[in-house]
Amino acid sequence: MKRASNNHKILTVVGARPQFIKAAAVSPALKSEGLREILLHTGQHYDWEMSEAFFEGLKLSSPDYNLETGSGSHGMQTGRMLEAIEQVLKKEKPDLVLVYGDTNSTLAGALAAAKLNIPVAHVEAGLRSFDRRMPEEINRVLADHVSSLLFAPTGNAVGNLKREGIEEGVDQSGDVMFDLCRKYGGVVKRKTPRVLKSLGLTTKQFVFATVHRAENTDSREKWHAVLKAFSMIAAKGFPVVWPVHPRTRELLGSKRIEGVQLIRPLPYVETQVLAANARVVLTDSGGLQKEAAFLGTYCVILRDRTEWIELVDEGVAVLAGTVSEKILEGVLQSRGYSKTRLEKTFGEGKSSERIAKTIRAYMRGKTIGKT
Ligand code: UD1
Repeated sequence: MKRASNNHKILTVVGARPQFIKAAAVSPALKSEGLREILLHTGQHYDWEMSEAFFEGLKLSSPDYNLETGSGSHGMQTGRMLEAIEQVLKKEKPDLVLVYGDTNSTLAGALAAAKLNIPVAHVEAGLRSFDRRMPEEINRVLADHVSSLLFAPTGNAVGNLKREGIEEGVDQSGDVMFDLCRKYGGVVKRKTPRVLKSLGLTTKQFVFATVHRAENTDSREKWHAVLKAFSMIAAKGFPVVWPVHPRTRELLGSKRIEGVQLIRPLPYVETQVLAANARVVLTDSGGLQKEAAFLGTYCVILRDRTEWIELVDEGVAVLAGTVSEKILEGVLQSRGYSKTRLEKTFGEGKSSERIAKTIRAYMRGKTIGKT
């Protein structure tokens, strides 16, 4: 693929909440390296609390483009994005397209660029849950296979790529969410008393929960088992606080559960406060299970598999699936651990810098990874 020689222009595709968080870590680093960034928001997430709240709260520049794709079936949503992203790429002619994570926006951005012969850089490359029924797994695998630069957060991720025959362009970069977690550590501390007070919570005496993955919300059986588990935990004297994702909001309707506080989706800092001060984090989110680990809080993962297997291997998280008793057991057996335990695994807070420098070197013709 052709690489430009000067005035390098990066077009970043974001669309869903976790991508705004990752971009908030990487965008300033790109700027520091003198790279020009055009930000494209697909509009996959569009509620204020799911989108603008993150741009404002994390001081991310407003997007240069918002495609306002909105919701739809997977094919429809991805297809709409693909068509619209292609138009922007033809107009902007970037030297590289940067995508994050595993959402439909990731896949659409990667595919649109690859088809136009524009190099793709994928942040969070090489993650695998080894469950192809998850839309996120399909998005990850496909994005990796059309990428020229693959920023793998951990050694495991590098190993996964190797097994799939991908070595060229791979860089073990660490985790950009860890960078942000560090950057906001002081703010999180300062805001803690106010956030806990506003929700009537006492540190380490409550459970912080989030549920939104299709695998859990689309199965009646799993959904009811999760709700039952939350009731059981509350009955043991641990109030549960649960910011409800829009996908879950529809399912819950006007349902109320004794001891479970259902709240609106939270901004980044407030989420970190709750994750840091909870006795346990209960989640099916990929990002939050990792953030819990960065903050020293034990995590009970509401899934059978995780793409962040390091957390389970290190004993800071457990896979409980959606078996109510196993979820409760996870909460009761939880224990604290040192926040610094996983520092080395996740890149010591300098991943964004490394990624920006590597992109710049690549733009100047340097070969990355094994050829
Ligand atoms: C997506 C990602 C998932 C990521 C998650 C973070 C895919 C396949 N999945 O899942 O990997 O963990 O984002 O949140 O891309 N909705 C609203 N308002 C919004 C956004 C969504 O009401 O601002 C509704 C949509 O109408 C839809 C549902 O929520 O019915 C799900 O949204 P969707 O974008 O399909 O996927 P997520 O579950 O958010």
